[in-house]
Amino acid sequence: MASQSSGKFFIGSIVIFIIVFGLVNVLLSSMLSVANGVVTPESMTAEDVAQRIKPVSEVYVGDAAAVVSAPIEAVASTSIDAAKVVKNACAMCHATGMMSSPKLANANDWAPRIEKGIDTLYNSALNGFNMMPARGGNPALSDDEVKAAVDHMLSLVK
Ligand code: HEC
Repeated sequence: MASQSSGKFFIGSIVIFIIVFGLVNVLLSSMLSVANGVVTPESMTAEDVAQRIKPVSEVYVGDAAAVVSAPIEAVASTSIDAAKVVKNACAMCHATGMMSSPKLANANDWAPRIEKGIDTLYNSALNGFNMMPARGGNPALSDDEVKAAVDHMLSLVK
C-alpha cells in the first residue's frame, strides 16, 4: 500500500517535472528569440550608421566632408545669417521696443538713430549704449555678426 502510493507519487512528480521543464523551455526559447530580434544589428546598413554618428554641426554648413576636415574654417567661412542673429540675439527687445529700444522695421524709431551715422550705431551695438547691452548681451557674437545685425535692422527701415 505504502509502496504503491509512493510509486504513484514518483511517477506523478516525473510527469510534473516534464511538464514544468517543457513549459520553461518553451518560455525561455521564446524570450530568447524576442531578445534576438531586438539586439541583432543586422537591420542597420552602413548609411544608417553614418547617419547616426554624423557631426551635429553639419546642419550649419551642409557639407559633411568640410566639417570633418576643417570644422572651424567651415563655420567661419559660412556667410553670416544676419536675420538669424537679429532673431536670436536682438529681437527679444527690439521686436517689441522693450525699454524704449528702437523697434524693428519702425522708421520713426530709427530715423534719429540713423542720423548719428553707422559707425556710432555699430559702436553702440558692440559696446553698449544706455540700456542697450553690449552685443545684445551675447558675448559669443563676433564683431561681424553684430555689425551684420545692425545692417539688417537698418535694411528693415529702408
Ligand atoms: C536687452 C534688450 C536689448 C537687446 C537684447 C538688444 N538691444 Fe539694442 N537697444 C536696446 C535699447 C533699450 C536701446 C535704446 C538705447 C537708448 O537709446 O538709450 C537699443 C538701441 C540699439 C541701437 C541704437 C543705438 C544708438 O546709438 O542709438 C542699435 C543699433 C541696437 N540697439 C542694436 C542691437 C543689436 C544689433 C542687437 C543684437 C545683437 C541688440 N541691439 C540687442 C535694447 C536691446
